[in-house]
Amino acid sequence: MERELVSPDADGDERAVEAALRPRMLGEFIGQTRVREQLSLVLESARRRGKAPDHVLMSGAPGLGKTTLAMIIAAELAAPLRLTSGPALERAGDLAAILSTLAEGEVLFIDEIHRMARPAEEMLYLAMEDFRVDIVVGKGPGATAIPLEIAPFTLVGATTRAGLLPAPLRDRFGFVAHMDFYDAAELELVLFRSARLLGVALPEDAAREIARRSRGTPRIANRLLRRVRDFAEVRADGVLTADIAAAALNLYEVDGEGLDRLDRAVLGALLGKFGGGPVGLSTLAVAVGEEPETVEVVAEPFLVRQGLLARTPRGRVATAAAWIHLGLTPPPDAFGAAASAPPAGP
Ligand SMILES: Nc1ncnc2c1ncn2[C@@H]1O[C@H](COP(=O)(O)OP(=O)(O)O)[C@@H](O)[C@H]1O
Ligand SMILES: [Mg+2]
Repeated sequence: MERELVSPDADGDERAVEAALRPRMLGEFIGQTRVREQLSLVLESARRRGKAPDHVLMSGAPGLGKTTLAMIIAAELAAPLRLTSGPALERAGDLAAILSTLAEGEVLFIDEIHRMARPAEEMLYLAMEDFRVDIVVGKGPGATAIPLEIAPFTLVGATTRAGLLPAPLRDRFGFVAHMDFYDAAELELVLFRSARLLGVALPEDAAREIARRSRGTPRIANRLLRRVRDFAEVRADGVLTADIAAAALNLYEVDGEGLDRLDRAVLGALLGKFGGGPVGLSTLAVAVGEEPETVEVVAEPFLVRQGLLARTPRGRVATAAAWIHLGLTPPPDAFGAAASAPPAGP
C-alpha cells in the first residue's frame, strides 16, 4: 500500500523542497515554545561567554523539526555546520575522520544518533567530554593509542528513539530538547508561512482544514499543502478554499483526522473482522495484507495517539472512538466507551 502522503519521513525529492521551507533562525521557528526558550538561553549564554555551547540532544518523532533546529543552532552561533548520521558512522575511523577536521566552535550534527556503531559511540564519549580522541594504531598486543586533541565543538544529536540511547551517551548532553507534536493552531502558522514562501494565497479556513489532517507534524502539513495547491491549480484556477482543500485531501484519501487508507484498513479490519478485538498483531496484519511491522510501525503509533486503537496484553483493541470514526455505533462494551465524549466523525 502506498503511503507517501502522511508518512512522517521525507523521501528523496522532498528534501530539496523542504530545504526551501526551513526556518533559518530561532525567531522563525514555530511552536515548541519551551524548547525554543530553553535553547535560546543555552545559545545566548554561550555567545556571551564566547564558548561553544553544551552538546544538545533533540528527541522526537520524524518531521517535527529536529534537522531544522540543528541548522538553526549553527546559524544562531554563526558557526559552520557538519552533517552526518548514525548509520554513516560504522567504524570509529569514520568518526575520527570527521572529529579531527572540525574547526573550533563548529557544530556537528549527527542525525539518527541511536544508530551509530558501538566503537564510534565510545570514541564520541571521550570527544564530547574531553575534546580528545584516541586513535588506535596497529593490532593485537602491539597496538597503541595515540591521543589526539580536537577543537572544542558542539555536538547536536537527533533521535526518534531516545530510549535506545545508552545512558553514558545521553548523560553527556548538557541539554535535551523533547519535541512534541504540534497543535492545530501551530500547524496553521506553519502552513501560512509555507504558503507565503510558495506564493500561495491560503485562507484561514483552508489552513484549518489542512492543519487538522496533518497529524501534528509540520512535514506532513507542508506536504498536504503542496498537494492541495496542485489540486487548486488544476481544478480550481489556483483558488484555494476550505472546500477545495477538503476535496483535494479526500481525493488523496486523507480523511478528516489525517487517517489514510492503511490506517482505515487497519481499523476497518479490526472492527469488521474481529468485532473490535482483541486480536494479535500478526493476525491483524494478515487481514489487511501487510507485514506486521508495517502495521506496527507505520499505522499504529498514530492510531494509538489518536485514541482510536489500544495495545493491550491480549492484543489490539479498537476504542469506541474508532467505531464512531468509521461511522459505526460502538458496542456498549467497547474499549473506552464510558470515557470522554466521542470526537467528531470524518
Ligand atoms: N517549527 C517549525 N516551523 C516551521 N516549519 C517547520 C517547523 N518544524 C519543522 N518544519 C518544517 O517541516 C519539515 C521537516 O522538518 P525537519 O527539521 O526535517 O524534521 P525532522 O528532522 O525532525 O524529521 C521542514 O521542511 C521544515 O521546514
Ligand atoms: Mg531530520
